[in-house]
Amino acid sequence: MYDLTQETKDDWWEVEALYDLCFAPGREALSSYRLREGVAAVPELCLVARDADGILAGAIRVWPVTIGEANAILVGPIAVHPTRQGEGLGGYLIREVLEKARATGWARAMLVGDAPYYGRFGFDRLEGVEMPPPTNPERVLGAALVPDAWSGVRGQVTRSA
Ligand SMILES: CC(C)(COP(=O)(O)OP(=O)(O)OC[C@H]1O[C@@H](n2cnc3c(N)ncnc32)[C@H](O)[C@@H]1OP(=O)(O)O)[C@@H](O)C(=O)NCCC(=O)NCCS
Repeated sequence: MYDLTQETKDDWWEVEALYDLCFAPGREALSSYRLREGVAAVPELCLVARDADGILAGAIRVWPVTIGEANAILVGPIAVHPTRQGEGLGGYLIREVLEKARATGWARAMLVGDAPYYGRFGFDRLEGVEMPPPTNPERVLGAALVPDAWSGVRGQVTRSA
């Protein structure tokens, strides 16, 4: 029902408009945006979902980050248009990103979000992994894309070089 494709530069403004619609004003003040500044997103993990008429229904973007010696993907922002929420599209986007990430060699994924939602995709609270302040540590979640990928990974999350 939805066609998932890699985001192109022609999609960019539409994705920005969707994020503006779905997030509270000032979204770019969130600490996760500090980790994205000046860093290229992971192109093959930035996806747009369009319906049969080509209307944008959802989007997800992904950036690389570093925690000490380890690297990870920072998943998000993700948004589904309010008229399309609750149909499973958000889950589809997240699962697709995690599968593609694993297939392209990423070992770990993290995000800042609601554990009750992201738990179903294998995300769990990350102990000792610190996002730039102000971030509620309860919302710092990680998923291992290969077994035990997060064990021993501790420290501050920083921008990828
Ligand atoms: C979060 C979001 C991407 C989910 O997309 P979606 O297509 O509605 O998600 P799905 O259809 O796959 O899943 C819907 C389920 O998730 C639940 N859910 C959605 N957001 C949730 C949240 N923040 N906390 C707990 N559960 C949540 C819904 O209640 C629904 O539950 P059900 O399966 O028991 O009915 C979408 O709601 C959205 O764009 N929200 C605004 C932007 C946002 O908050 N993005 C995430 C920032 S971390």
